[in-house]
Amino acid sequence: MKRTLIVGATLLLGVSAVWAQQDAAKETQTYMKGNGRNAGAISAMVKGEKPYDQATVDAALAQFEETAKKLPTLFPASMKGIKLEGDYSASPKIWEDKAGFDAKIASFAKVVGEAKGKIKDLDTLKATLPVIGKECGGCHETFRVKNS
Ligand code: HEC
Repeated sequence: MKRTLIVGATLLLGVSAVWAQQDAAKETQTYMKGNGRNAGAISAMVKGEKPYDQATVDAALAQFEETAKKLPTLFPASMKGIKLEGDYSASPKIWEDKAGFDAKIASFAKVVGEAKGKIKDLDTLKATLPVIGKECGGCHETFRVKNS
């Protein structure tokens, strides 16, 4: 009886650890998917598929800024080696080269901060979006892996 209880408790602990991992992974993906959606919405304007809309631009920048603030906590050590649902996972390099990853976060935060208030029309959007896009891509290149 006692034994069963202990085994049961151990199992439960194991399960909640997995839950915690999945929660962390979900939160991370929610931010990144939000980034992707917002980046898509503003690149549609740059491509001329949608009219310029300041509110959409401001919302995108606010979400990028929020992501930049959250990024340092979005990849707890428990996520290392976990394959996420969907197309992408986090590269183990995030934990192996923490300084490099932190530097990418810092430069993303800086570029987003500088872009805020600068984008006022289609021309300024066209000039600024590639600078932001370079930050997204620069981090993904090293720290994101495609699921096979
Ligand atoms: C400091 C690093 C970093 C920056 C900056 C960054 N990302 Fe990511 N991104 C990642 C990592 C790591 C993953 C893989 C983990 C994941 O999918 O959540 C990812 C995944 C994604 C995904 C796939 C989400 C999914 O799983 O379906 C999208 C879309 C995305 N990022 C968009 C963006 C956009 C757009 C920007 C810029 C506005 C951006 N990211 C900036 C690190 C970054």
